Amino acid sequence: MERILVVNGPNLNLLGERDRGHYGSMTLEEINSDISSLARELSVEVAFFQSNHEGDLIDTIHAERKRCQGIVINPGALTHYSYSLRDALEAVAIPVVEVHLSDIYSREEWRRHSVIEPVALFSVVGKGPAGYLEALRGLVEHLRGT
Ligand code: DQA
Repeated sequence: MERILVVNGPNLNLLGERDRGHYGSMTLEEINSDISSLARELSVEVAFFQSNHEGDLIDTIHAERKRCQGIVINPGALTHYSYSLRDALEAVAIPVVEVHLSDIYSREEWRRHSVIEPVALFSVVGKGPAGYLEALRGLVEHLRGT
């Protein structure tokens, strides 16, 4: 069974209360529960990690590199400037799918650039919590060559 690491970066622990206009009303716990249901349907194992600390995200990605076959990541604001997170994802050479709840390409100028996008297999933006499900499905299809 493939193991997929689902990573959420800074401030995503506040989903449900944070800027609902952009991020909706579901909590991260609720989103993760939907991801777990889909994972059961697809027969994959999922591991969840959220942190507000760049180094902890990188340490977890390193620690998981020999255990997981794919990564779904919403890096939060680190998307726009974290070359160290980008390099970590490139270094572990595991297929990565980038997710953003909001459409970063139609928001403020500074959000319109992702340093993660070039190292991702594909990105899902602006689809709300359903974006994580689309990312997981696409990643599993990629891993299984289906
Ligand atoms: C986000 C978009 C980022 O610009 C922002 O900093 C976030 C959330 C999203 O899911 O839309 O924290 O990644």
